[in-house]
Amino acid sequence: MSTRKPRLEGKVAIITGAGSGIGRATALLFAEEGAKVVICDIAESGAEVCKEITERGGEAIFIKVDVSKAKDVAYLIEKTIERYGRLDVLVNNAGIPSSGTVLDITEAEWDRVLDVNLKGAFLCSKYAIPEMMKGGGGVIVNVASVLGLVGGKGEAAYCASKGGLIALTKALALDFAEYKIRVNCICPGSVETPMRQRIMASKAPEERRAAELKIPIKRVARPEEIARAILFLASDESSYMTGSTLVVDGGWTAQ
Ligand SMILES: NC(=O)c1ccc[n+]([C@@H]2O[C@H](COP(=O)([O-])OP(=O)(O)OC[C@H]3O[C@@H](n4cnc5c(N)ncnc54)[C@H](O)[C@@H]3O)[C@@H](O)[C@H]2O)c1
Repeated sequence: MSTRKPRLEGKVAIITGAGSGIGRATALLFAEEGAKVVICDIAESGAEVCKEITERGGEAIFIKVDVSKAKDVAYLIEKTIERYGRLDVLVNNAGIPSSGTVLDITEAEWDRVLDVNLKGAFLCSKYAIPEMMKGGGGVIVNVASVLGLVGGKGEAAYCASKGGLIALTKALALDFAEYKIRVNCICPGSVETPMRQRIMASKAPEERRAAELKIPIKRVARPEEIARAILFLASDESSYMTGSTLVVDGGWTAQ
């Protein structure tokens, strides 16, 4: 007989980039675990995820936001507080890919990747933390990548943004531990999401399979497998963890 209490019962959680892939899976899982979910996305797909949650009996709102714009992020936090009165969890998941060496990419592309993947997490943290402090604590989970730990060939801006996000995680953890705000990040390996499907579309089937065979578990992750790791970091089950980097990559970086 299971009398398990939902892991995020009564918690208010913002998930950025929740209209697709890992963010969507995390939003659905958080709602199942009793959270009131604020779906933040630059794309309208966030509205569909919101509908999916409410149709299943969960609680969610969608707020259309570009995380790289301070005005948008201020609005996101303001609306969250207006609707739910508090903020407990922030998942900085919104991200965009980028391919090319520093010789290939333009200054504008570099700026956009860093603006979304790194500045977005800075802005969301900047506006969310004061609300967490008012509530007596909170949790931030940053979605980085194994490409923030090791280099990826031809992905300079993306690697730099994710490496920066891992370092930001540690700095935030130190700065706000005394306010009972825990900050951790996850580093997924390859995950079957619309982002990966777009990247892989240009590659031949043999090349895709060869990439999978380089993963010790011999397959890419399902978004739900990453969402479960995010849930662990967002819940009290990880109460003694802060400043950590949780690698979820099927063994890819263990080699
Ligand atoms: N898929 C992978 O293999 C993989 C691996 C490691 C890390 N990640 C990271 O996981 C996160 C989610 O990736 P995914 O694979 O689910 O991608 P995805 O493209 O399926 O979803 C990303 C979502 O972020 C949203 N978004 C993009 N820019 C935004 C902005 N400026 N403001 C608000 N929302 C914005 C998109 O609209 C989209 O809904 C990203 O940070 C990505 O870098 C993905």
